[in-house]
Amino acid sequence: MRLIHAVAELREALSGQRETAFVPTMGNLHAGHVALAEIAARHGRPVVASIFVNPLQFGAGEDFNRYPRTLQADCAQLEAAGTDIVFAPDVHEMYPEPQTFSVEPPLAGELCGAHRPGHFQGVATVVLKLFNMVQPRYAVFGKKDYQQLFILKGLVRQFNLPIVMVEAETRRADDGLALSSRNGYLTAGERTEAPRLYRLLRAAADRIIAGERNFAGIEDHVARELTDHGWIVDYVSVRNRATLLAPGTDDERFIILVAARLGITRLIDNIEC
Ligand code: PAJ
Repeated sequence: MRLIHAVAELREALSGQRETAFVPTMGNLHAGHVALAEIAARHGRPVVASIFVNPLQFGAGEDFNRYPRTLQADCAQLEAAGTDIVFAPDVHEMYPEPQTFSVEPPLAGELCGAHRPGHFQGVATVVLKLFNMVQPRYAVFGKKDYQQLFILKGLVRQFNLPIVMVEAETRRADDGLALSSRNGYLTAGERTEAPRLYRLLRAAADRIIAGERNFAGIEDHVARELTDHGWIVDYVSVRNRATLLAPGTDDERFIILVAARLGITRLIDNIEC
C-alpha cells in the first residue's frame, strides 16, 4: 500500500487507471469505514482511500481542532482491507489558494444543514475536488450520513461526473449505536445512553411500516423521549426517501432522520421504512 500526500504524485500513480474505486474519509477509521474499503475492492481496482479532515465543512465552534487524527492506525486498517493507495493531503495541498470556489448544493440548508451552516457546501466542494484528483469509476459512501449521500448523488448527476455511486449500509455496535468517529467523545455514562437513539428510530420505523401516518406525532414522540433522557435534539424528521422532502400522503418509502447531542457529542442516525 502506498501513502501519498501530494496531488501530483497521486495523478502520476493513477494515470491510465479506468476502474479506480474510491473511499473518501476524514480518518480515525472504524469498522464502518473498513467495510466501505472492502466494498470498494469488490467494485474496482486500484482501491484509493482518502484521509482529510476538511476545514471547509466544520463551522466555527465545531470540533475541527479536536477531530481525532490517527493516520498510522488508519493506514494499518486500510492495508488489511486491501486498499492500494491512501491519499492524505494537508490543508495547503487541498486549498493552496486563499480564496476558494464553493459548490452550493440543493437541500444544503435543511436537516443537518439548518444546524451546520456551510457544512454541505464544504462537503460538496471537497468531494468534487477529490473526485477530480482521483478520477474514480466507483465511489463508496455510507448511508449513515444519509443527507450527505443524497447531496453527493445530486452532485454526480448534475455535474455529469462519470462516477458510479455505491451505497453502503450503516455499521452498528451490537447495542445498535451507529459506528462513528465521534463516539470516542462519549463518556462511559453517555455511551450507555447512546443506543436509545437507534432503539427509538427502530420503534418509530415499525409504527410507520405498520401503517401509522401521523408523522408529526412520531417526530414529537422521539424528540420528547430523547429530551427526557438528557439529549439536546437538533431535529427529528420523517422524509420521503427518494426526495428527502416532507412526505406526501400517498408516499410509501420513508426515512426518519435524527441529529441530537449528548453532552459535547453530536450524533446522527437514520432508518429507512
Ligand atoms: P467520515 O465521517 O470519515 O465518513 C467517511 C465515510 O464513511 C462516509 O461515506 C460515511 O457515510 C461512512 N461511514 C461513517 N460511519 C459509518 C458507519 N457506521 N457505517 C457505514 N458507513 C459509515 O463523511 C465524511 O467523512 C466526510 O464528510 C467526507 C465525505 C470524507 C468529506 O470530507
